[in-house]
Amino acid sequence: MRNPVFVALDVPTAEEALDLVRELAPAVGGFKIGSELFTAAGPDIVRAVRRTGAQVFLDLKFHDIPNTVARAVAAAVRLDVQMLTVHASGGLAMLQAAEEAAQQTAAQTGRNAPLVLAVTVLTSLDSAALAEVGCDDHVGRQVERLAALAVRAGLRGLVCSPLEVAGLRQMLPSHVQLVTPGIRPEGGGADDQRRTLTPRQALEAGADWLVIGRPITAAPQPRLAAEKILRSLEL
Ligand code: C5P
Repeated sequence: MRNPVFVALDVPTAEEALDLVRELAPAVGGFKIGSELFTAAGPDIVRAVRRTGAQVFLDLKFHDIPNTVARAVAAAVRLDVQMLTVHASGGLAMLQAAEEAAQQTAAQTGRNAPLVLAVTVLTSLDSAALAEVGCDDHVGRQVERLAALAVRAGLRGLVCSPLEVAGLRQMLPSHVQLVTPGIRPEGGGADDQRRTLTPRQALEAGADWLVIGRPITAAPQPRLAAEKILRSLEL
């Protein structure tokens, strides 16, 4: 079975990140590097994690004009990441440019194209917050609209909340891969996450990849926590 767990390296320094990577790499599918760590430690941290052989999900949520996003995606491909994110609300042309840049740069550099994942509506936004930025649609409908747009643009994956997985699975082509954060193992606390599923529930609902942070990284023994999650996924 492929290991679907990507651990969120939400730490401020390269040292802390690499300590976690060394401890966890054998027990997880890969690592997510987001804005905090990337801004602090730069592309070197991506290279360092890749040198361990671990897969990297670069979660920088690009949102800019198509040319700029295409060039950022090309740079991410040259860093040899396996997944990266763009905001679906950047529009069709931006999404198409991102996917095209991923494919072209991968072909030029002899790599597999990374999975370009669309972020739909941030889970921190509710319908009232969406209305404030000029979108009068209900959150659920806006998620579906942006998911459909991303697929129309040729993207092969989406980030979604655990509670969106089942609905999106039904409406999207089966080849589209769903990546979900907001995962909490049974019996653990929720931290600041409000609507969570267990790792197993998320896979059963149709998720392909799980992003898990604190339940592993803040555990007294992160490796044991990761291994316990993995066991919970075995049939
Ligand atoms: O520690 P925790 O498991 O909550 O970490 C989840 C990771 O997924 C964090 O990096 C967080 O920023 C990210 N994320 C999330 N909810 C979203 C999108 C991303 O928790 N809707």
